[in-house]
Amino acid sequence: MTRRLQADASGIAEAAAILLAGGLVAFPTETVYGLGALATDSAAIARVFAAKGRPAHNPLILHVANKALAARFARFDARAERLAAAFWPGPLTLVLPLIRDAGIAPAATAGLDTVAVRVPRHPTALRLLEAVDGPVAAPSANRSGQVSPTTAAHVLADLDGLIDLVLDAGSVEVGIESTVLDLGRPDTGRILRPGGLTRDAIEAVIGRLDVSSGASSEPLRSPGLLARHYAPKTPLRLDAVSVAKDEALLAFGPQPLEGAGWMLNLSPKGDLAEAAHNLYAMLRALDTEGARRIAVMKLPEGGLGEALADRLKRAATA
Ligand code: TXA
Ligand code: MG
Repeated sequence: MTRRLQADASGIAEAAAILLAGGLVAFPTETVYGLGALATDSAAIARVFAAKGRPAHNPLILHVANKALAARFARFDARAERLAAAFWPGPLTLVLPLIRDAGIAPAATAGLDTVAVRVPRHPTALRLLEAVDGPVAAPSANRSGQVSPTTAAHVLADLDGLIDLVLDAGSVEVGIESTVLDLGRPDTGRILRPGGLTRDAIEAVIGRLDVSSGASSEPLRSPGLLARHYAPKTPLRLDAVSVAKDEALLAFGPQPLEGAGWMLNLSPKGDLAEAAHNLYAMLRALDTEGARRIAVMKLPEGGLGEALADRLKRAATA
């Protein structure tokens, strides 16, 4: 049985003690719930991969309370400095050169010479990371290939009995994962995974990014880019312009299609941030209805639309 504690001062203190002793703790970040383990503890990291059923070649994101802690194991160039100053704490993950002898468990970075790092802005995550005072590896707290969790109940649906504790702070703000930006070499500046921070926001700070997709050139550069990921069990159909009675509709905007057997609306007022917040919970909910298929209405393209389109495309890949 996995324990579930409120994310108050005593819950956070307990969670920090479990992490420092090598245990696994799921905790809320502003994007999705993460499955935390001490990044310097090889045995704890091995348990994360086992609990998630995650392939060993897929590296983890290290979470820290502040940039100074990150600089102990990741090399910041001028672009990384500016992005960290502009967007941390927040939903931006930087892939940077790894400092070799900094004590990070090799399995956490899948043996790469780069490391992914971020400072999350959820107050519970920040307090927990301050208490631990070191890097906490935290992939999304779901079984590998499943939809990321945005509530403690989602975490338990996937990982009950496989982890020590989940800190419960209710539903999280952003609802989709962080943007992963590759700054691992001086000549790269490429989004490996669109996410909670938009391309426009990043380009406003460091200028134009490379547009080539990591998926086509280097398949395993960011294994989160594997085509099928974030998938419910019910098949998905995108850009629906009509819907059948045995389908569940994932709608967007003030004029949802009519005729579906079930319907949830990502954002009746047509707001992309609201849609991101609702996406995974609504996919999970529609997945349990027994519909033949989930039909998804087209979403607008700009801003957070890039990350939403990415997640929906992966969820629809059979
Ligand atoms: O919002 C988030 O990022 C959440 C919360 C918990 O912080 N975490 C998350 O972690 O989504 P995860 O493990 O589900 O996704 C991490 C992504 C994967 O696509 C992984 O391949 C990529 O980051 N990644 C990690 N280290 C990398 C590296 N050194 N080079 C390239 N990609 C890396
Ligand atoms: Mg994940």
